[in-house]
Amino acid sequence: MRKKIVAGNWKMNNDLGATRELLTDLKSRALPEGVEVIVTPTFTNLHSATEALSGSSIKVAAQNMHHSESGAYTGEISGTMLKSVGVNTVILGHSERRAYFGESNALLAEKVNAALAQGMTIIFCFGEELDDRKKGSHFDLVKSQLSEGLFHISESDWGKIVLAYEPVWAIGTGETASPEQAQEMHDFIRRTISEAYSDAVAQGVSILYGGSVKPNNAAEIFGKPDVDGGLIGGASLKAHDFMQIVNAFS
Ligand code: 13P
Repeated sequence: MRKKIVAGNWKMNNDLGATRELLTDLKSRALPEGVEVIVTPTFTNLHSATEALSGSSIKVAAQNMHHSESGAYTGEISGTMLKSVGVNTVILGHSERRAYFGESNALLAEKVNAALAQGMTIIFCFGEELDDRKKGSHFDLVKSQLSEGLFHISESDWGKIVLAYEPVWAIGTGETASPEQAQEMHDFIRRTISEAYSDAVAQGVSILYGGSVKPNNAAEIFGKPDVDGGLIGGASLKAHDFMQIVNAFS
């Protein structure tokens, strides 16, 4: 059975004080059975987050990492550094990294290899822009993001992969993909993985939806058969809203 997961992508929000406050609030709340909860503070707050959440089942992930283990890469953070502060999960390929920092599918493939070499779990993000959807090329685009960034990994590596389909037009816009649009794409993703690998891999991987998920629409989106949870931006910054989303599985 694949996992139900709700991950909060905090992006470049919350200084140390705000991080501690939000984590204390989250830690004080009861979590539902059978849902994995992940938060992703900024790099500077990862260490204090893993310490603050010791004894809690909430996991801490990073928002990005470099593909080398160390070296002359000013301003970058490696997987070994993340692991040294207790972080074993990393988001790769977020559309903001692709759009603002020029991360290509080829670079992401290298980052995927680096994270897997560290034994880390990867939340691999991808999704089309509005133009792609208008042109009707969104399925092809998603297929190429997956095949160029991820499909070089071995079948056994899929145990370390969580997918996050995030249509760029729905991120931070208040415009959500309809539950039917999300289901249609998630079903396509599973069929694409089944063709490239096997039905067992396709059925075993958790596929999260991201893009304007809020307390008032999470239940309907998570109710779709191929949606296994969400990657939440804005609504993950408020403990009450985030926990309502965590509790939205029926
Ligand atoms: P919003 O939930 O703010 O639309 O952000 C989604 C996202 O980018 C999560 O990674």
